Amino acid sequence: MVKQQLVWDLPVRIFHWCFVCVLVALWYTSDQDNDLIEIHMKLGYTALSLVLFRVLWGIWGTRYAQFKNFIPSISELKAYIHDFRLGKAKAYIGHNPLGSLMVVFILFAVLLQATSGLFISDDIFSAGPYNGTLSESFEKLLKTTHSNGFNIILTLSGLHIFAVLYYLIIKKQNLIKPMFNGKKLNIGKNDGIAHSRLLIAFIIAVVVVGFVYWLVVINAPVIEEYYY
Ligand code: HEM
Ligand code: HEM
Repeated sequence: MVKQQLVWDLPVRIFHWCFVCVLVALWYTSDQDNDLIEIHMKLGYTALSLVLFRVLWGIWGTRYAQFKNFIPSISELKAYIHDFRLGKAKAYIGHNPLGSLMVVFILFAVLLQATSGLFISDDIFSAGPYNGTLSESFEKLLKTTHSNGFNIILTLSGLHIFAVLYYLIIKKQNLIKPMFNGKKLNIGKNDGIAHSRLLIAFIIAVVVVGFVYWLVVINAPVIEEYYY
């Protein structure tokens, strides 16, 4: 056994805590009374960039960040739930099968929320860059999605935080510290990752930011002026 080894690479940790901060800020700026909808939209582009980054990092990232190493099969999931109920679930070095499923759901929910935001307006002064490009009924559907989607994100986040606290308090496993320093204690010699692949992360980040800039600025159709 080697004492402390790197499990969560730096990009995953930066992604995680930025994601949390951006989602809180998105919630705060979504309140019409605050008059912060322009900032809300910019934060929405940031959330979109973070999700796209994480999806690509799930392909080219380090061992425990890669989807192929953590998205469970149905049988793995069933076995985990079965063992969990009996209190026999083994500890995982990366995400456990239920946690993995939650990661996928959260990423998908935020992707849907940010994408729907691109097509809607607040019916006053502000509109996403693609507002007016789809049929009225479809945009109405996206607006309903956007208005209600955040409740789903909140529920998933609540469950996620509950699970992390359950592990901390009941199972006496602190998963939070490794999300800060990346390291886990007492795992097998070859179970850690050697480094964070920062150059690849940097290239992915540049590509994602470039793509989102193209999507919301360069490629966006000219928005009709609103006259009152
Ligand atoms: C808005 C709230 C939150 C969201 C949307 C969120 C989302 C996520 C996501 C997507 C991951 C997967 C990370 C990855 O593989 O890239 C994750 C992991 C994790 N998060 Fe959060 N998170 C939130 C709040 C928190 C808070 C407040 C804590 C600490 C109390 C926390 C602790 C953790 C831990 C420990 C993991 C790793 C779990 C494991 O070991 O499998 N999260 N979270
Ligand atoms: C993941 C990212 C996002 C989250 C979590 C989020 C969350 C929210 C929430 C909670 C509301 C209030 C809904 C209501 O009270 O009915 C809202 C409204 C709004 N959002 Fe977002 N949003 C995101 C991304 C975006 C993006 C990318 C845009 C546009 C570029 C956008 C544009 C708007 C607009 C225009 C409103 C006002 C809609 C109305 O008046 O009904 N949002 N958003």
